[in-house]
Amino acid sequence: MELLTPFKRDGWQLQSRAVMAPMTRGFADFKTGIIHPDTVSYYQRRAQDGIGMIVTEGIAIAEEAKGTVGIPGLYTDEQTEAWKEVTDSVHQEGGKIIAQLWHVGRLSHSYFTNGRKPLAPSSIKANGHTHRVRLPYEMPNEMTVYDIRNVIKQFVHAAYNAIKAGFDGVEIHAAHGYLIDQFHSTWTNIRKDRYGQNRYLFLEEILLAVGEAIGTNKIIVRFSEHKDDSPLYAWEDPEKEIQMLIEVFHKTKIELLHPSVNEFSKPLAHHSLTLHELVRKYWDKIIIGVGNLTSASAEKALKDGLIDLAAFGRPLLANSDFMHRTKASIPLKPYDSKIHLQQIK
Ligand SMILES: Cc1cc2nc3c(=O)[nH]c(=O)nc-3n(C[C@H](O)[C@H](O)[C@H](O)COP(=O)(O)O)c2cc1C
Repeated sequence: MELLTPFKRDGWQLQSRAVMAPMTRGFADFKTGIIHPDTVSYYQRRAQDGIGMIVTEGIAIAEEAKGTVGIPGLYTDEQTEAWKEVTDSVHQEGGKIIAQLWHVGRLSHSYFTNGRKPLAPSSIKANGHTHRVRLPYEMPNEMTVYDIRNVIKQFVHAAYNAIKAGFDGVEIHAAHGYLIDQFHSTWTNIRKDRYGQNRYLFLEEILLAVGEAIGTNKIIVRFSEHKDDSPLYAWEDPEKEIQMLIEVFHKTKIELLHPSVNEFSKPLAHHSLTLHELVRKYWDKIIIGVGNLTSASAEKALKDGLIDLAAFGRPLLANSDFMHRTKASIPLKPYDSKIHLQQIK
């Protein structure tokens, strides 16, 4: 199976093409942002039997980056120290591990941030409630240029800490309607300054700064059309949005993209192609596929050259021995949020 073969390209060397997708777990200490001790065995089990790469749950780059309870951080020395055991245990299994760096922007709440108001490109409130602790979203403060520079510094600081903690790289979470993605969308970014005229400038500046700090070859970027808080959102002109994104990736010398969709084979709302097909049209470097993939559909997409690596989320939550089952063709246990979200096993 192609999925189980090693992967080597552009400085990336993985023992297989199977990737664990980032999944928020919510078990970190609310006050300190230090991971739950069981996080070590949780990731180690999933690394066993040859996972190529694990992308962690979203990790907050600052206290005000958090959108719910139990989110771990990489902004204090204690948080950084605690992650070392996780990275060591995944490396013992021969896997690579990437820290997903996250700022939720307006999808935060002062309850999670020690009283600080959420930040966003523009003062536009999200509809709905925060995850888990259901609090109505608050009106965010429009970020000043000083705030923007500060958040870029926080991304850099967290990326440094990630490397200090032994991670093989970082994934910049620019998807799903969180802070960076709030800059991308005209629903949430009505700024008149250069961050409004060029909606992808904030992402570009983060990638340049983090790249300078840890090397562009250690960066993955996740982006999406869908926004977790706005189910009706769709790009009016997907071709244009992808072209603008790809231009940023060329400028910043990024090599690895992780376009995110819930259904891999479903065409975009306003396009005949799927997101991964549209990205491939403009991108000949590494692409991670994701979105309700099975080992069979991943295998086909890998063989067709549509993607280079295949990520699985819920199947890996439900099956800590996912790699063993995949290798031995043992059927997977179905995912059940009522069971699998309650535990970190
Ligand atoms: C419980 C859960 C938590 C998730 N948390 C994150 C997250 O922190 N960051 C992120 O980019 N995506 C997150 N996702 C999305 C997954 O990374 C993945 O894209 C999605 O589950 C589709 O893959 P799947 O069909 O294989 O599960 C989460 C998904 C689930 C089910």
